[in-house]
Amino acid sequence: MKKIITKILAVAVVGAMGLAMAGCAGSGTDAKKLTVEEGKLIMATNAYFPPYEFYEGDKIVGIDQEIAAEVATRLGLELEIQDIEFDSIITGVQSGKYDIGCAGMTVTEDRLQSVNFTTPYATGIQSVIVKEGSEIVDVDTLLAGDYIVGVQQGTTGDIYMSDDIGDERVERFNKGADAVLALTNGQVDAVVIDDQPAQAFVQANAGLQILSTSYAVEDYAMCLNKSSEELLNKINETLAAMKADGTIDAIIEEYIPSNG
Ligand code: ARG
Repeated sequence: MKKIITKILAVAVVGAMGLAMAGCAGSGTDAKKLTVEEGKLIMATNAYFPPYEFYEGDKIVGIDQEIAAEVATRLGLELEIQDIEFDSIITGVQSGKYDIGCAGMTVTEDRLQSVNFTTPYATGIQSVIVKEGSEIVDVDTLLAGDYIVGVQQGTTGDIYMSDDIGDERVERFNKGADAVLALTNGQVDAVVIDDQPAQAFVQANAGLQILSTSYAVEDYAMCLNKSSEELLNKINETLAAMKADGTIDAIIEEYIPSNG
């Protein structure tokens, strides 16, 4: 009899420990212990993508920076931003150099093979920029002609264009701004890039316009290493709270005012 009672007790104790540990996995583990460097949230971005990330003096600011900074604060972490080539963000996250990639990055099936994504926090549209008065008047004209299209290397603009019109007609640049410069110089006939940076680039360069027909609608999210599931859950919980309390909308509104 006694033996049985001890056994039952033991089972109960193990059960309770299990429950406690399950609690930890949900939200109990200190986020500080889940990152590449204890206490830090290291974010990889490519900071030539206004209004998501851009330089103000020597500081990187923008929607992504503000959302990531708020996520870091709520998780008790210090945000560190590393500005790298867009093309290297996913490999850097995969190899464990950075905790998150946060760069107006579109969730795609292909990328999901290499990294996990948080729940999306914003939407983007692939737009087409041409010179004012260009004979390219819509996406169909662009695809049908033998026009050369400038893109930022490794972006969805690059991927879609390469698929749709073939490599020979796609000119790749390290920065979106360089592709736009090539358009003003007449080196390329159009640039395919996300709508918000497109608007910023068109405002900053005279003689350009955005076609009213856009190319694709996309979701932006942060990417994480596939093994960082606990951190992913914590960031998702935090993003959900920031959505619910209006923080995300306020940050986006600050950079993209909805009333004009
Ligand atoms: N949304 C596009 C993509 O994910 C372009 C993102 C470029 N971001 C940047 N920070 N340069 O491919």
